[in-house]
Amino acid sequence: MTVRIVVGTQWGDEGKGKITDLLAAQTDIVVRYQGGNNAGHTVIVGQEVFKLHLIPSGILFPDTVCVIGNGVVIDPQVLLEEMDMLRGRGIKVTPDNLKISSAAHIILAQHKARDLQQEADRADGQKIGTTGRGIGPTYVAKIDRSGVRMEMFLRRDIPAELAAFQAKLTPYIIDSVQYLNEALAQHKNILLEGAQGTMLDVDHGTYPFVTSSNPTAGGACTGSGLGPTKIDEVWGVVKAYSTRVGEGPFPTELFDKDGEYLRAAGAEFGTTTGRARRCGWFDALVVKHAARVNGLTDLVITKLDVLDKLPALKICTAYDIDGRTVGDLPTDLELFTRAKPVYTELSGWQKDTTQCRSFSELPSEALKYIAKLQELVGVKITLVSTGPDRAQAIRRDI
Ligand code: GDP
Ligand code: IMO
Ligand code: MG
Repeated sequence: MTVRIVVGTQWGDEGKGKITDLLAAQTDIVVRYQGGNNAGHTVIVGQEVFKLHLIPSGILFPDTVCVIGNGVVIDPQVLLEEMDMLRGRGIKVTPDNLKISSAAHIILAQHKARDLQQEADRADGQKIGTTGRGIGPTYVAKIDRSGVRMEMFLRRDIPAELAAFQAKLTPYIIDSVQYLNEALAQHKNILLEGAQGTMLDVDHGTYPFVTSSNPTAGGACTGSGLGPTKIDEVWGVVKAYSTRVGEGPFPTELFDKDGEYLRAAGAEFGTTTGRARRCGWFDALVVKHAARVNGLTDLVITKLDVLDKLPALKICTAYDIDGRTVGDLPTDLELFTRAKPVYTELSGWQKDTTQCRSFSELPSEALKYIAKLQELVGVKITLVSTGPDRAQAIRRDI
């Protein structure tokens, strides 16, 4: 029995969906614990591409139960559309394998309108670049105790705005905290799937250029109702380089041909909004920070193959802030905004890694790159992904 959290260590889009799907085969229950349909998790199986926003990335396995936890905010229409999309593609989605927490909050039309209006009202330089899905205002309503929860669907009289969804959603709504804790008592394997990433965490990210929830490991406990003592492993997913979508500081961002190369080779366009992702070199300070605030036990490197053709690779090992060399991420955004990356350079491998299935098959320069990341972050690398498909993964223990 293992309870494992899968968390993003950068600014989201690290490949959490792919890794969750990969692990879901050996998992009884996959739980989403925060965020909403601001998330876009891509799972590729052969020729099939699945873009998931709310439903956990374990849904492709009919015997794996997926739970949308109490920490998630749900747009009922989006959820129903996603359920229909999956069913239309032959994926099982029934109350047996999808369960929705009665305590998850509902995104209302007013929240979406407010999200768009607030973003429009923000002056240049202060815009966050939200996904416009109503996420922030829904969490505001939750925290100020005026929100509406999924349990509303179980009542006789509900707001007119929600009435149309009631019959379709009611069969899926359960007390997920009770369900998950009972599953734990039955020694089930549980995977808690994060959305967004550590640097978008409202407490530990680049505030105020963040999302309105806690993607970090603590949020997995709050957002699922599984206590901290029940968690066995925390796996941090990290891209072999960095990306960010939306506004906010990003010290290793590239504005040159290398940045363009990463965007093209990595297909770095948002799953949810289609926006081009900003691209840059690997930032070890960011991932070290993620290792701390999540208590990472394992690291998963994704998209190593995107670096295959580059002759030289840079890793940020420190920042220069106003002439001082700094080895840890500053929490003060003013300082972080002025941080200039200090790089160490490694040679590229310029070989195809997409067919590699064991560490010994990887080019020696790729192994050196991975070893350097492990040394800098201080967490063991358990899995390396060299392509979007399920088969393109290298486990340390194989
Ligand atoms: P998530 O939000 O963390 O689940 O990540 P996204 O799905 O938004 O973005 C990751 C993208 O990279 C998706 O299109 C995945 O199919 C793709 N991907 C995942 N792992 C790899 C990999 O190892 N190599 C390549 N080339 N693509 C990958
Ligand atoms: P996944 O789960 C990348 C970003 C938005 C914006 C900020 C706040 O696919 O990794 P919000 O709509 O949440 O209020 O926007 O957060 N953002 C993401 N960036 N991946 C995501 O999710 C994101 N979800 C939100 O671009 O900068
Ligand atoms: Mg994504």
